[in-house]
Amino acid sequence: MIINGLLTLACLLIPIGAEAGNQQNEQAYQQGRISSDGIGKYYMGREISHVMGHLGAGWLERPSREQEERTDLLLSNMGLKPTDVVVDLGAGTGYFSFPMATQVPQGKVLAVDIQGEMLDIIEQRKATQNISNIETIIATETQPNIPHDSTDIVLMVDAYHEFSYPKEVMQGVVTGLKPGGRVALVEYRGEDRNVPIKRLHKMTEKQAKKEMQAVGLTWIKTDNYLPQQHVMIFQKPYAPLNK
Ligand SMILES: C[S@@+](CC[C@H](N)C(=O)[O-])C[C@H]1O[C@@H](n2cnc3c(N)ncnc32)[C@H](O)[C@@H]1O
Repeated sequence: MIINGLLTLACLLIPIGAEAGNQQNEQAYQQGRISSDGIGKYYMGREISHVMGHLGAGWLERPSREQEERTDLLLSNMGLKPTDVVVDLGAGTGYFSFPMATQVPQGKVLAVDIQGEMLDIIEQRKATQNISNIETIIATETQPNIPHDSTDIVLMVDAYHEFSYPKEVMQGVVTGLKPGGRVALVEYRGEDRNVPIKRLHKMTEKQAKKEMQAVGLTWIKTDNYLPQQHVMIFQKPYAPLNK
């Protein structure tokens, strides 16, 4: 498949474990068979995929993307309010950060990624387009570095399946969300054999629900208005009322 080929070209294996000794809970993970598009590290039965290297930036910005993935529909269905603080986690080149910044003129977008080269691309575009409500944040493999209780919604498009410490990152996401804040998890549909994307770059709804529930997020709904991807919405519970 053309898309698989392009994705293979675009992917670089980023070494993991460089931050061993931080707060990660290694017991959450198992080592196993290494697939061609995976790292041999398993979380809740799912093999984690390679990280897409920054040399794949052109693929993220390909002109055919809007039509193939109907990214316009995703953006118009995000339900953002003008004052929202939005995190684009695994922002890449900022394909979603820039249009979302126009939807939150009194709020802001925090564009978060582990690759400084991706954030450099975003900073250059910010300067060229004179955008002031996008802030870039460098993440580590284990921490998204989002300020506590700061965020209304976290968007992750085609990124979560690459996180080498998904449990720790999502715990950081939960800490960063305001009570009642939402996560929009967008992943290629793992149940659909007709979606021409490598296996580990897709996720099933069942698996995603299991992994989000493990960090205390509540599933709200799954929308399937996109041609190839699930849009799965989760929520951080409101703090229990004092009795
Ligand atoms: C396939 S790209 C998708 C980029 C963007 N969301 C888009 O759809 O255009 C995945 C991005 O996730 C980033 N990433 C991988 N692991 C990450 C982590 N633990 N924390 C933050 N970003 C991560 C990668 O560096 C890469 O830029």
